[in-house]
Amino acid sequence: MPAIAFNLVLAQGEVLPSPLPVTATPCGEETLAEELLPAGDTSLRAVMNRSIDGGVADSSGTSRGLRSDEDFFVFSACRALADAIVVGAQTVRSEPYRRPKGRAGIRKLRPSGKEFPALVVVTASGILPPGLDPDWPTYLAIPTGSDLPAAFPQERILPFGSLPDLRAQLHQMGLRHLLLEGGPSLLAGFLAESLVDELCLSESHLTLGAGSTPLLGGDAPSAQQSARWRLETLLVGTEVTFSRYRRRKIS
Ligand SMILES: NC(=O)c1ccc[n+]([C@@H]2O[C@H](COP(=O)([O-])OP(=O)(O)OC[C@H]3O[C@@H](n4cnc5c(N)ncnc54)[C@H](OP(=O)(O)O)[C@@H]3O)[C@@H](O)[C@H]2O)c1
Repeated sequence: MPAIAFNLVLAQGEVLPSPLPVTATPCGEETLAEELLPAGDTSLRAVMNRSIDGGVADSSGTSRGLRSDEDFFVFSACRALADAIVVGAQTVRSEPYRRPKGRAGIRKLRPSGKEFPALVVVTASGILPPGLDPDWPTYLAIPTGSDLPAAFPQERILPFGSLPDLRAQLHQMGLRHLLLEGGPSLLAGFLAESLVDELCLSESHLTLGAGSTPLLGGDAPSAQQSARWRLETLLVGTEVTFSRYRRRKIS
């Protein structure tokens, strides 16, 4: 019995007549990849792992307590299908972010055709943990007018005017399908600008209790607009329930 045993209950917005098993086998990976392959010319998908009580980090300030093999299975599939991972600097300072790769068996499906995703770290301070690899390639997205970190190769620095401008710049660089991995402040910023096409929530079947960090952070929650989302994917596991929502277009 494989340790990872999801059931795909809803796919591409339709309830399946019977649940489709998705296991950590080549066949299971392909089923997942087919379901999660980004659509359209360009896209921005956000993915967050949270607890049932809404926490994305525990009182120690990391998401370690939320993780499981099942969460990693879907998370690494999302990474395998993204041209670039976009992440806030505080997450990179809190979590291991040296060379994100994505699930090996399905990397060949990455739309850019590159073996690995680029890493884009959004920062105003330019304060970075040691060990980021500029040649991954890793880019630093920094608001125009901020001091540029002298130690980082200048050709890897992307000054941007606003988050919509940053998204457009990344697409122009050929990074057409973006995976936003948080954290809560950056996610709130992208949501406030209606820049998130898909929101994936990997809900771990646990509660984090007092002192946990909520899904949306920083100043941007006060700027959130209400929006409607359509449930496209529902994967039910033992440790995790994974939901993929697509933003509905306002007609
Ligand atoms: N469970 C999960 O899926 C998950 C995912 C991600 C993170 N987390 C957790 O979330 C926590 C971090 O949350 P957070 O909200 O503080 O982190 P965050 O969103 O990753 O990072 C915030 C930082 O990103 C930069 N930033 C964000 N928006 C910006 C903008 N518009 N322009 C320029 N820079 C911008 C700033 O960096 P500077 O400070 O460098 O200026 C800001 O301080 C950690 O505990 C982490 O473990 C959990």
